[in-house]
Order: sequence, then structure tokens, then C-alpha cells
Amino acid sequence: MNLLNSKGVSLLALITLASTGASGSEGDVDYRHYAMEAVGAHMQAIVKILRQEVPHSEHLSLHANAIADMARIAPVLFPEGSQGREALPAIWEQPKDFAERLDEFHSAAEAFKNAAASGDPAMIGSAIGALGQSCKDCHDSYREE
Ligand code: HEC
Repeated sequence: MNLLNSKGVSLLALITLASTGASGSEGDVDYRHYAMEAVGAHMQAIVKILRQEVPHSEHLSLHANAIADMARIAPVLFPEGSQGREALPAIWEQPKDFAERLDEFHSAAEAFKNAAASGDPAMIGSAIGALGQSCKDCHDSYREE
């Protein structure tokens, strides 16, 4: 296998560089995009279930657990220098406030996960409202319209 490309750059070196987690890579930006799309898709599935447009109420916890897992890893999706797509520079300019938005998301996702597990409609109703609000609170300041 030829480990040098036409410019004489060692591909092995590039692979090693990428695996050290060098910040600001295209990979970080794409990965965040896919992760957020996944959160969005789980949310849309949840709404379909809660509106009873599909008979899959037993899937509610699956989607709730997935969002809670994503909320737990969300802080690592915004490494220094990973500006791009719709992520606004304010994320790195106001790190304290941004961290609070991440915390709010994590708490709301955990609460929704517990509500879904309980099966109690009133709990589920209020928890989904708080979860949706946590998305909006962050997007309003940190995602480009
Ligand atoms: C702490 C901040 C924050 C929270 C909380 C948050 N998001 Fe996002 N979201 C972002 C940012 C920033 C982007 C833009 C990312 C990018 O373009 O790189 C984004 C992008 C998205 C996208 C578009 C995909 C993309 O990358 O362009 C979807 C869909 C989405 N979010 C859904 C949600 C949902 C649903 C929730 C709540 C369950 C949520 N987000 C919670 C910050 C957040």
C-alpha cells in the first residue's frame, strides 16, 4: 500500500493527526451535524407518538433514552475551533452561558426519560414541553437561523 499521496503527504501522518482529535476539523463539524440531526429525528418521532399518529407508544422510552444519551455527550460536540455550518461564534465567546444551556438540555432530557419510563401522561406532557424549551433556548442564541 502506498502511504504517500501525489503531494508527497504521508497519509499515515494525516490519519494519526485526525485520531489525536485535532480541533476544528471538518470531522468535528460534520459529526456535530449528524448528532444534532439524530436528536431532531428522535424528537419528531416522539411528537408523532404523543399525537397518537402512530401506535408506537412502547417506543417512547427508546427515543427518550437516545436523546438523554445525546444530551450527555453534547458538551464534547463543540470543541474549540469547530465553528462551521450553523454554529454561531457566540458558543465560544460566551462559554459559561453556553455551558448552562447544555446543562438545561441534559436535565430536561433526563426528566423526559424518567417521565417516559413512568408512563404518566401528565408527567410526559410537562417534561416534553421543558425539553422542547431547552432546544429553543439554545438555538435562539447559538444557532444561525
Ligand atoms: C446547547 C445548545 C443546543 C441544544 C440544547 C440543542 N441544540 Fe440543536 N443545535 C445547536 C447548534 C449550535 C446547532 C447548529 C450546529 C451546526 O450547524 O454545526 C444545532 C442544530 C440542530 C439541528 C440541525 C442539524 C444541524 O446541525 O444543522 C437540529 C435538527 C437540532 N439542532 C435539533 C435539536 C433538538 C430537537 C434539540 C432538543 C431536544 C436540540 N437541538 C438541542 C445547539 C443546541
